[in-house]
Amino acid sequence: MVGLYRSRVAGVGSYLPEKILSNKDLEQMVDTNDQWIVERTGIERRHIAAPDQATSDLCLLASQKALEDAKLTPSDIDLIIVGTVSGDRQMPSTACYLQHKLGCSNIMAFDLNAACSGFIYSISIADQFIRTGVYKNILVVGAEVLHRYINYKDRETCILFGDGAGAWVVSRAESTDKNVIASSHMHADGGLSELLTLQGNGSLLSTSETPDENKNFVQMKGREIFKNAVRTMAACCKEAMEHNQVNPDQIDWVVPHQANKRIIEAVADQFKFPMDRMVVYLNETGNTSAATIPIAFDWAVKNGKIQRGQQILLTAFGAGLTSGSVLLRY
Ligand code: ACO
Repeated sequence: MVGLYRSRVAGVGSYLPEKILSNKDLEQMVDTNDQWIVERTGIERRHIAAPDQATSDLCLLASQKALEDAKLTPSDIDLIIVGTVSGDRQMPSTACYLQHKLGCSNIMAFDLNAACSGFIYSISIADQFIRTGVYKNILVVGAEVLHRYINYKDRETCILFGDGAGAWVVSRAESTDKNVIASSHMHADGGLSELLTLQGNGSLLSTSETPDENKNFVQMKGREIFKNAVRTMAACCKEAMEHNQVNPDQIDWVVPHQANKRIIEAVADQFKFPMDRMVVYLNETGNTSAATIPIAFDWAVKNGKIQRGQQILLTAFGAGLTSGSVLLRY
């Protein structure tokens, strides 16, 4: 989209809860083992929020770091978007709780549900608000406390997910700034919605009505998700590269949704992206849904991998099935 202005990533931050749930811990809970989990997923541990930590608390800690990195204060922020499927409450939005905790009242704040694509969907909306000149500084957060929706008797799902939050401040760029968001392309295929669900507490099925406790937990068809994850993320990477007329050699880093290392390897393989230019941090975090991309991005920045001026491709897929890409110069 052509607009009046372009947006840039002004600051990044993330937060992972202190408590760690390792593969060895899971061996005590379900019939699984560390070797199987590492070989089939790449995950070694995940972080779990404390009983008194809500999703907005994780958002707050990540947001404070992103604001500090951007050298801005909460009063500079014009809009807050939180990508999440595990917010504090069904109503009101986690973004409103975050707004209050940050102390920046009277600005627009809303949650966005695109599951694991929630962060890049939110970035795409922030980019539109900046391109049209409506806002200058937007706080975008991906955050989940997913462990509360995981059945720790189901070995197929409980090994995968963790809690965490990542935040970006997206700001209006100077007209001379080359480090801008170049494009965002978002998609959804509702025909595949039943592959990955969290059914309880919705208008179709209230939590109190269901005798089937699984309906209150994340349920997925793992193999089908796997195939669609590779297919959609590869298609999204191709779309972004064709739209911007760049080839894989011109991309410094790909930051993919962190669900399974084998999914990331399969996507890299399609474009001959070397794995050492794919950011992989899921060994430490597991799948934190909407939070994986900003957490992995922040980790790569803090560890000297991603640097200012580099060209970065973000890609995600999630329940919906949603998918998308963002190409930017950091
Ligand atoms: N430990 C040990 N064995 C296991 C485990 C476990 N935790 N889970 C499954 N198995 C067994 C199965 O029962 C099966 O046994 P069988 O051959 O006797 O029937 C065997 O391992 C192989 O099972 P598969 O399902 O074929 O294993 P696969 O290699 O496909 O790995 C996995 C399963 C890890 C779930 C994989 O399919 C996957 O990662 N899918 C994508 C999941 C995902 O990304 N979900 C979230 C996406 S969207 C979002 O992020 C919200």
